[in-house]
Amino acid sequence: MRLVTVILGITAIGLAGCGNASSSRPGDTAEVAAAPASFASHSADAVDATGALRVPRDYRATYEHLGTWSIGADAPAQGAKEMHDVWASPGTAAAYRRTGQFPDGAVLVKEVFETATGPQTTAPIVSHEETLKGWFVMVRDRGNTHPGNKLWGDGWGWSWFDAANPMKTTSTDYEADCKGCHVPAQKTDWIYVQGYPALKR
Ligand code: HEC
Repeated sequence: MRLVTVILGITAIGLAGCGNASSSRPGDTAEVAAAPASFASHSADAVDATGALRVPRDYRATYEHLGTWSIGADAPAQGAKEMHDVWASPGTAAAYRRTGQFPDGAVLVKEVFETATGPQTTAPIVSHEETLKGWFVMVRDRGNTHPGNKLWGDGWGWSWFDAANPMKTTSTDYEADCKGCHVPAQKTDWIYVQGYPALKR
């Protein structure tokens, strides 16, 4: 528990620019991390009573890192123009390895970072994450329990959040804002699973 407190403290400093780190609440601790995968235990911090999504608080302290995507600049010499880090709520990866499915209530967070690129001792063109642009959030809903809500469907809740406002999405319709781009991943429940070592058995 003491270790968790230390990690939360460090994360709060690291996320100070993100606007959602100062508000740790009861439950944002190891008890949550140890809870079994269920809609209540995971999605509760990412969905409000009306079904609106938000960026879960303190996800960096409790979520598992699934993988990172490097989005190359048009000119290779410029390295990566963005890097995308994907995180999953506790227990999601283990459940996926066991069943080949994302469990109900699983939350996925994709951070979108702008980069800085320059020479390092490892190589002449090295990019690192610099400025957070915002987050994509998805919440697993296998039963499609939000009919009529345009940000839920195809087994997920879907929303984008600008870095300045992790509590309120700017998305209005997942079919227009998200779905077309995720068609190549349709067979794997709309998720680009090939990018995530933690999901491989
Ligand atoms: C321009 C195309 C595009 C759009 C628009 C888009 N996505 Fe994605 N999304 C991708 C691709 C490609 C990946 C994986 C590779 C990457 O990050 O470049 C991804 C990854 C993700 C991930 C990480 C899990 C996964 O599927 O691998 C989440 C979460 C996500 N997107 C949510 C959303 C949501 C929510 C929306 C709409 C608000 C959305 N995306 C719109 C192309 C898109």
